[in-house]
Amino acid sequence: MSDQSANSQAIEGAPHSGVPDNLPAAESDLYQPPQSAIANANVANYLDLRHEALADIEAYWDARAREVIDWFEPYEKVLDASGAPFFKWFVGGKTNIAYNALDRHVKMWRKNKLALIWEAEDGERRTYSYYQLWQEVNKFANVLKSMGVQKGDTVTIYMGRIPELAIAMLAVTKIGAVHSVVYGGFSEQALASRIEDAQSKLLITCDGAWLRGKTVNLKDIADEAVKRSPIVHTVIVCQRTMQEVQMTQARDYWWHELMALPIASPVCPSEPMDAEDPLFILYTSGTTGRPKGVLHTCGGYQVYTATTLKYVFDLKEDDCWWCAADPGWITGHSYIVYAPLILGATGFMYEGAPDYPYPNRYWKLVEEYSITILYTAPTAIRGLMRFGDAWAERHDLSSLRLLGSVGEPINPEAWRWYHRVIGQERCPIMDTWWQTETGGCMITPTPVIPLKPGSATLPFTGIDAAVVREDGSTCEPNEDGYLVIKRPWPGMARTVWGDPDRYVEQYWSEFAKQGWYFTGDSARRDADGYFWIIGRMDDVIKVSGYRLGTAEIESALVSHPDVAESACIGIPDELRGNVIHAFCMLNAGVTGSPDLADTLKLHVRHEVGPIAVPAELSFVDSLPKTRSGKIMRRLLKAQVQGLPIGDVSTLAE
Ligand code: WTA
Repeated sequence: MSDQSANSQAIEGAPHSGVPDNLPAAESDLYQPPQSAIANANVANYLDLRHEALADIEAYWDARAREVIDWFEPYEKVLDASGAPFFKWFVGGKTNIAYNALDRHVKMWRKNKLALIWEAEDGERRTYSYYQLWQEVNKFANVLKSMGVQKGDTVTIYMGRIPELAIAMLAVTKIGAVHSVVYGGFSEQALASRIEDAQSKLLITCDGAWLRGKTVNLKDIADEAVKRSPIVHTVIVCQRTMQEVQMTQARDYWWHELMALPIASPVCPSEPMDAEDPLFILYTSGTTGRPKGVLHTCGGYQVYTATTLKYVFDLKEDDCWWCAADPGWITGHSYIVYAPLILGATGFMYEGAPDYPYPNRYWKLVEEYSITILYTAPTAIRGLMRFGDAWAERHDLSSLRLLGSVGEPINPEAWRWYHRVIGQERCPIMDTWWQTETGGCMITPTPVIPLKPGSATLPFTGIDAAVVREDGSTCEPNEDGYLVIKRPWPGMARTVWGDPDRYVEQYWSEFAKQGWYFTGDSARRDADGYFWIIGRMDDVIKVSGYRLGTAEIESALVSHPDVAESACIGIPDELRGNVIHAFCMLNAGVTGSPDLADTLKLHVRHEVGPIAVPAELSFVDSLPKTRSGKIMRRLLKAQVQGLPIGDVSTLAE
């Protein structure tokens, strides 16, 4: 492909919604893709491909499904929209994600290629070839089977960022069970309610996890969670920190002991799964109530994540790919564990914090492992930027060819720093907008299009995204509106685990008439058709890129005996994107004090986890509510930020 085909080429034919006819031409704040990024890019001509995909999405995804994965049995139909919004993809097809991630590579020359390189926080290194990873996964899959795990069962995983986490996930999916990974930063109650909702009888955890040279007692937290949700009858404990833990007879088993048993044979067939069988549940925060289990299924998720990684991040055989997310969140599921392995890539995983022991840790890792593509979050970038350029300048970052950002809007200042200091003005930045529910990147650059700092640019090929008003009409350029997806895509969530009504209500009711998926985000498009994501329109707060629901933090506060009622809001923060401000109404006879505020923060830390701890906590006599009793967080937010409070006609008093 040539330079011109990527740029400013008018495309013939009728424009589809969401498709600009041209890519923007030179203007002041536009970063044109370098020749090196365009040459041999997996996506040759973005605009052509995009028009082609939207002209016939079934033909487009059919081609991708054949290209990126193997099927045990072919599908009869690409898309079945008859039960919309419960769409079905690749109907009748049989496949297995662990087979595509491992077995098929082991059957060819990739057998001895490195699948995973891991570095511990203390510098310990481990590597796994495809063959070695395959054997570990098979062994653990056989262990799980011997523990009675069957196809369709749910298994909860609560571990640190170690290779065994990926091994556990792949072993679960290999035998057709369904994993629910709970981020290792969550605490007792968060873990307990997720176990309960998923009805997992088996829990996989670690003795502890390393974080900034200290240990987090995962097993203690797991024990407490199991006490609260006694449905768990087996706990497998992986040794990581070697700390003292309590093992309960006939319930708790050491990972390494089980893996040494004859039952842990290194060969295990991959269960043929229907394309629409459940693959995994991932709990995420929504508008109200308890976290919901977003369900992804076996066929479409694989096709979508592998396709996006191949085209957005241009993954090639000789890349060393580093997605620096946590496997406990969707970014890690899709782009640390599954998609890189499906594509037969070498992936790198790091256990610890970006600035531990020094702020050069990431850059040192890039140099030492010759990382070619780095995908991280704005919070990490801002956090490292704060320490100045010198930490990065000490390292040879010339292996890098592409950079990525995910999880929250990246401010142009951080974008430019990332581009100049880390990418050395050579590496395009893929600012990818997507969600747990979308499975993979949705609004995102590809390496061949011009970039604007702070804009996630354009929808991925085959994705029909738009910014609309409440009545569904399309917003004018630069007008804020609702971000919607107008047509289905293979990586879409299929339902909320055990609660299909909630799925419909949460995502498909805002624009029910039109049949569009509502993302929960607001956005605007500029005159070039580029998307600028503004943020959540609901009660979700993104703290350091982590997705939290106000409801979970509020119910943790209310579970304290001194608190009668509580409301939490997100307040913009330079470093973390947002921080939490909690308002608490105390029970009669209790007086607020700085000590009580600290106690309550500690309580949230215990119940939900350190990321959910409010930065500010105020005591109030009452909370603003609508006449129907709904807390008006918007008012609290306006008050804290000193903004106009707007329409208060629904306020009760
Ligand atoms: C936000 C993370 C701006 C957005 C993959 C979305 C972003 C929520 C971006 C989903 C981005 C994610 N620019 N905002 N590049 N990426 N978001 O489910 O508000 O943890 O709705 O998935 O993160 O968060 P989740």
